Amino acid sequence: MKIISKIDTIKFAMRANKSRGNIVGFVPTMGYLHEGHLSLVRASLKKADCTVVSVFVNPTQFGPKEDFKDYPRDIKRDMQFLEEMGVDFLFLPKEAEMYPQSYRTFVEVENLQDKLCGRSRPGHFRGVCTVVLKLFNIVQPDIAFFGQKDAQQAIILKRMVGDLNLDVRIEVMPIVREKDGLALSSRNIHLNREERQAALCLSRSLQEAERRVRSGEWRTSTLIERMKGIIDEESLANIDYIAIVDTDSLEPIEEIQNEALIALAVFIGKVRLIDNVMVSEEE
Ligand code: PAJ
Repeated sequence: MKIISKIDTIKFAMRANKSRGNIVGFVPTMGYLHEGHLSLVRASLKKADCTVVSVFVNPTQFGPKEDFKDYPRDIKRDMQFLEEMGVDFLFLPKEAEMYPQSYRTFVEVENLQDKLCGRSRPGHFRGVCTVVLKLFNIVQPDIAFFGQKDAQQAIILKRMVGDLNLDVRIEVMPIVREKDGLALSSRNIHLNREERQAALCLSRSLQEAERRVRSGEWRTSTLIERMKGIIDEESLANIDYIAIVDTDSLEPIEEIQNEALIALAVFIGKVRLIDNVMVSEEE
């Protein structure tokens, strides 16, 4: 595995790769890798001839009061995982080169960026889109892999790719969960034992909603009420939002027809966790 930090160096390496006709697969991450990230890496190794993973804790997607400084990091461990898997390139950009003092340009996906997580994290998706577009321009991937865990992120990035006519295909991979249902997240490390247990209310409420949809409950107000009930039973849990929305517009819907996204964000103690499930009427 080649480890590269300089932008010009990886650009050069990628150009050489492409000229050989290789399909380049790309997995952008913020590191502290877990099975969720690794499932994306595996998908890329399978589908592409050359796999690039980036690890960069992107400062522009964190709000001033958010956990940029506390975001977990362990680059040695990340390198070991990726090396063992047979990743071709690990890109570790430096903040000073990604965002020099003179940096002024940002990407916004209007409307979509202000909904759901965007409401409580203003500027978050502007930071995500900006860094992902920069990474796409640097790496020039043919396919980029993202997780359904961050459903809104995937929807927004797909829109950005379409709107800006980028030559990259986005593939969204399923959520990887612990055996008990908790969606894997780098932030789970911040949960103490009691909170870890309480965090199960997210997946439990989604499972219940999914079960009710399957048995014919399509009214979203009823579904949300039931989910809220499950989460409110947890004294350590504080709901940020629960929403059932259209998968393109992210607008709330009253009844589930075709495909819908059931998404939620819940504070467990100080840790904000997200989770979601896609459902459809046919279910
Ligand atoms: P990060 O949180 O490190 O996640 C990197 C990728 O892993 C994202 O596409 C995310 O959706 C996926 N992922 C995380 N947990 C997952 C799980 N349990 N199952 C499946 N996929 C999972 O998302 C980011 O970084 C950043 O916003 C980034 C896109 C890298 C831009 O900075």
